[in-house]
Amino acid sequence: DWTMAAYKDEAIRKIREQVGDKKVICGLSGGVDSSVAAVLIHEAIGDQLTCVFVDHGLLRLNEAEEVVSMFRDNYNIPLIHADEADLFIGALEGVSDPEVKRKTIGKLFIDVFQKYANQIDGAEFLAQGTLYPDVIESVSFSGGPSVTIKSHHNVGGLPEKMGLKLVEPLRELFKDEVRALGRELGLPEKFIGRHPFPGPGLAIRCPGEITREKLDILRRADAVFIDQIRKHDLYDDIWQAFVAILPVKTVGVMGDGRTYDYACALRAVTSVDGMTADYYPFTHEFLGETATRIINEVKGINRCTYDITSKPPGTIEWE
Ligand code: XMP
Repeated sequence: DWTMAAYKDEAIRKIREQVGDKKVICGLSGGVDSSVAAVLIHEAIGDQLTCVFVDHGLLRLNEAEEVVSMFRDNYNIPLIHADEADLFIGALEGVSDPEVKRKTIGKLFIDVFQKYANQIDGAEFLAQGTLYPDVIESVSFSGGPSVTIKSHHNVGGLPEKMGLKLVEPLRELFKDEVRALGRELGLPEKFIGRHPFPGPGLAIRCPGEITREKLDILRRADAVFIDQIRKHDLYDDIWQAFVAILPVKTVGVMGDGRTYDYACALRAVTSVDGMTADYYPFTHEFLGETATRIINEVKGINRCTYDITSKPPGTIEWE
């Protein structure tokens, strides 16, 4: 793509100009955005970049292992794997308000980065894969009053005291453009095709208070749902698909016994940029089969619903 090739060269020039001979740390989430940002910055400044992958214990099943091994196998970029699950889960104990959850996670992210930044001699910059929709959604509705819909933990909240300057090379791009840039940079298609995953992770797919038990159930249900979507070859038609575990237990019957377990909601949407979205029109057959699999295979869930809310008025995530 001619335009993206030019964009890439210009972005690399700007990064070099901004950073000079200083060191940069980049938060790697394993998603498309931070991966593209990391590879782009690596092309610009090579070993002046160190990536930090923060495992906040709110990732999907096997995600941490996959991200770390994918990055180490594909790239020669220095990568620190920070296992901070206890820190995050501990801080979220007893917290059920969505904004407090987001802010708690966002603040810890900054603390953790600060900790690793301090270990990297001379690090002066923090790189993030912030996109254009992240920037505007956390500021205002266009044309309306300035209203915060949700605090995106990776935007704007970087306190001065952190002492790191931001490098945000994707700040002008929409998701589809980030994917085009990723292809231009030669990232593997499996990276580029990944559904977006929010910084606060599973915390915002577990409305109300988070517990390790709920997270574990959620992870297993989510894995079954994604497996179903892949088996039916629907993954690439969907912008984002996931399970939310609901903060409610309901009665069911299984075999000859009564059950009293969590209900879950499946969520799958189509979208161009995440700003608006339509729920995905699965067949009833697919939905029935998926519900049956989740309830049979995931201990702790006995009821499954499908979320048919579009955005607006709903958001894609549940919190
Ligand atoms: P919502 O739920 O606001 O989500 O309709 C729109 C898109 O943004 C993702 N999202 C986030 N991404 N940090 C992120 O990096 C966040 O705090 C965050 N919150 C939502 C969401 O997964 C969807 O793709």
